[in-house]
Amino acid sequence: MKKILITGGAGFIGSHVVRRFVNKYPDYEIVNLDKLTYAGNLANLTDIEASPNYRFVKADITDAVEINELFEKENFDAVIHLAAESHVDRSITDPTAFVMTNVIGTVNLLNSAREFWKGDYDKKRFYHVSTDEVYGALGDTGMFTETTGYDPHSPYSASKASSDHFVRAYHDTYGIDVVISNCSNNYGSHHFPEKLIPLAINNIKNGLPVPVYGKGENIRDWLWVEDHARAIDVIFHEAKTGETYNIGGHNEWKNIDLIHLLCKIMDKKLGRAEGESASLITFVTDRAGHDLRYAIDSTKLQEKLNWVPSLQFEEGLEKTVEWYLENEEWLTNVTSGNYQKYYETQYSAR
Ligand code: NAD
Ligand code: TYD
Repeated sequence: MKKILITGGAGFIGSHVVRRFVNKYPDYEIVNLDKLTYAGNLANLTDIEASPNYRFVKADITDAVEINELFEKENFDAVIHLAAESHVDRSITDPTAFVMTNVIGTVNLLNSAREFWKGDYDKKRFYHVSTDEVYGALGDTGMFTETTGYDPHSPYSASKASSDHFVRAYHDTYGIDVVISNCSNNYGSHHFPEKLIPLAINNIKNGLPVPVYGKGENIRDWLWVEDHARAIDVIFHEAKTGETYNIGGHNEWKNIDLIHLLCKIMDKKLGRAEGESASLITFVTDRAGHDLRYAIDSTKLQEKLNWVPSLQFEEGLEKTVEWYLENEEWLTNVTSGNYQKYYETQYSAR
């Protein structure tokens, strides 16, 4: 029986990773550690929360004592680390929270691994989930590869870059088995509606302005979240120690083109006249230091580990819209803040 600590499992990507591991590996014990910040929502996991191989632990990775106690008690075989502050706009307003969770929190986990995995570094695994934003911004051409130099611009990407460096340093210095993956922008179900796609879906649904930063010319490379979870599964099980993998869908979209496609899908799904949703598009002041373009070259992952994205973007976006329209209660709970009461009602009596 393998006991795996997944951090940030109540968030967007983490919940997909937890679901995949709990369902696919009944002989693994999955411990989901999450602080339940505004972005953590246990309602993301109601379908698996009663599974015998799943447990939730509410904890804060910035609390070194708490993390040490957990490692001492549990004897984890591996960590898959996703917990993070993840929104660029919030990092511009409050960088310190990003340093605390993304840098200090990661170092706390590494320190616990260093302390409690002593003598077993080659039998344990620390998998760090990171972002392509550490590589900085591209011009009109080129793609990020695993050897692209780090050049982060936002406080978010600077904090993730720093955490990546610490993970590598613990491999190089102490010999801990680590792997890192850097992924492009994800989309799909359970995505918190502060990020572009779920925010736009929610606003279009409610007839509210859809804010597009600047002229909408920035380019992002979008990947379906379940394809990311599948890539994490493959890399976790098959990557060699110390390796890095880039994950991406080869799917670049200018923000404005993406929003127009989304508006078209929403018009169709909501039975609106063509162009009705697009009339909500509102150009607003650009994000400070807004990276122009991200594009990921995931050739290494495709060639070495046989991973390819499974879903075309148009199909994935349509599925995503359908999920949000069918899960109105999830969306209302999140936008009203009610979801944060879920933990108290579900778990306080246990
Ligand atoms: P998210 O914001 O949806 O979820 C983050 C989770 O971490 C939440 O459940 C939150 O409660 C938890 N958390 C935050 N601070 C914590 C702390 N101090 N202690 C314990 N738990 C804490 O983020 P996401 O979009 O699911 O991203 C997950 C990971 O993937 C992050 O490391 C992020 O950098 C990385 N990533 C995200 C994307 C993307 O497109 N969203 C792309 C590439 C990489
Ligand atoms: P976001 O979803 O915040 O992800 P990231 O900043 O990590 O790439 O933003 C995706 C793109 O959409 C980015 O270029 C910023 C832009 N954007 C808007 O134009 N309007 C918005 O309301 C948001 C949240 C983002």
